[in-house]
Amino acid sequence: MDNVFVMDHPLIQHKLSLLRDKNTQTKEFRELVSEISMLMGYEVTRNMSLKEVEIETPVGVARTKVLSGKKMGIVPILRAGLGMVDGMLKLLPMARVGHIGLYRNPDTLEPVNYYCKLPFDVAERDIVVLDPMLATGGSASAAISYLKEKGVAHIKLMCLIASKDGIKKINEDHPDVSIYCAAVDEKLDSHGYILPGLGDAGDRLFGTK
Ligand code: PRP
Ligand code: URA
Repeated sequence: MDNVFVMDHPLIQHKLSLLRDKNTQTKEFRELVSEISMLMGYEVTRNMSLKEVEIETPVGVARTKVLSGKKMGIVPILRAGLGMVDGMLKLLPMARVGHIGLYRNPDTLEPVNYYCKLPFDVAERDIVVLDPMLATGGSASAAISYLKEKGVAHIKLMCLIASKDGIKKINEDHPDVSIYCAAVDEKLDSHGYILPGLGDAGDRLFGTK
């Protein structure tokens, strides 16, 4: 699989197992999504560029490094991507947040766009697209295409569980986009749900079922 990074950190794997459990209720589910997102964000941001600075400590001068100031943005796909925003903003408080609203037509599984609001300078930013589930890949691919139409050149996709089909779709449609996930699951059921997956991420996050 090209361009796929599976985060095998023990804390991520442990929390993902709790997330998959059908007995995990909404409050804990939300907390786990946020925590895993923060832990994954640590890896997703590994290549951020640094610049050297001099800092006066109480007893001397340190030649040290700070972020060079490259503008960042995160773009959750509504609804379920919202659950990943807090964790990422803890690491990247300076990031701007765009929103792309997509839902899957339950019959065709094709994504339907219903909302979009992006930072005015989105084209200048490195963007991380957030969605816990990469199933057929249709939603993430459509969101990435939309960002590219708006001029965004550097895009990463961060999800919690990716299916093999979803990864294939993103690799084919957007070979320049790296996928960061906590697990790769084998297959989809006839309704396009990831198996074994974790069920409907939006419903479990917001308690709508
Ligand atoms: C879920 C999920 C992804 C999409 C993944 O959203 O959060 O956006 O399905 O499926 P795909 O890879 O086959 O496109 P859903 O359409 O259920 O909307 P919701 O987040 O509003 O519940
Ligand atoms: N959307 C979800 O929330 N879960 C899946 O398994 C597939 C799409």
